[in-house]
Amino acid sequence: METKVEQAQDFFKVLRDRHSVRHYDPTVTISQADLQDMLKEATLAPSSANLQPWRFLVITDQALKEKLLPIANHQQQVVDASAVIAILGDLEGYKQAERIYEQAVASGYMDEELKQSFITRITNGYASMSAEKIKNIVLIDGGLIAMQLMLIAKAKGYDTVPMGGFHPEQFKEAFGISERYIPVMLLPVGKASESAHSSPRLAVNDVTFWNKMTEGE
Ligand SMILES: Cc1cc2nc3c(=O)[nH]c(=O)nc-3n(C[C@H](O)[C@H](O)[C@H](O)COP(=O)(O)O)c2cc1C
Repeated sequence: METKVEQAQDFFKVLRDRHSVRHYDPTVTISQADLQDMLKEATLAPSSANLQPWRFLVITDQALKEKLLPIANHQQQVVDASAVIAILGDLEGYKQAERIYEQAVASGYMDEELKQSFITRITNGYASMSAEKIKNIVLIDGGLIAMQLMLIAKAKGYDTVPMGGFHPEQFKEAFGISERYIPVMLLPVGKASESAHSSPRLAVNDVTFWNKMTEGE
C-alpha cells in the first residue's frame, strides 16, 4: 500500500517537473541503448485498435542535426539536444494488424477465430476510410506516444521539447521520408543547460464542462 503512494508521488513529480526545454548542453550524449529503452517504454502507449502506427526517426548525427536547423526555423535545440526523435505516423500502419494480433494469439489473449475477425474488420474498415480520417488517427496516436516519451525521458533525468515548428514537406524531402509517413512532431531529447520555468495554465473550471457544454469566453 505504502509503495503505491510513493510511486504515485514520483509520477506527479515527473509531471510537474517536465517543462519544454530549449537550451541543451551540447556535450551530453545519450547512448543508443538508453534511447531504445525510452522508446520501448513509450510504445506501451495506447493506440487506435492497437495498431501502433508511430514510427521514429532518431537523429543523433551532428551533421544531420545541422541539416535540420533551417527546416526547424533555426530553433537551436535541434542542434544542441543529444538526439532529435522525429515522431512519424505510418498511414499504412494498419497493414501490421496480422503481425500484432498474431502476438495476441501467441500470448493467449485471443484465439485464432477472434484474431481473424479483428483483422477482417480492421482491413475492411481502413479500406473504406477517407485519407483524412486515417491521418487523424495516426496524429492522435502520435500525440499520445509523444507525451508518453516526454514523461519517460523526464523520469530518466532528461529534458525534451515537443516541436511542431518545422516544415514537414522540407523535412520529408531532406530525410528521404516517403508519402506513406506523416511527421507528427520533432522531439529533441537531452540535458537542459539552463533550468526551464513552468508556464501558465488555464484554470480547470475554464476548460471543463460538467454534463452540458456551454459557450466558453
Ligand atoms: C504540438 C506542439 C508544438 C510545439 N512546437 C514548439 C516549437 O516548435 N518550438 C518550441 O520551442 N516549443 C514548441 N512547443 C512547446 C510549447 O510552447 C509548450 O509545450 C507550452 O508553451 C507549454 O509549456 P511546457 O511544455 O513547458 O509546459 C510545442 C508544443 C506542442 C504541444
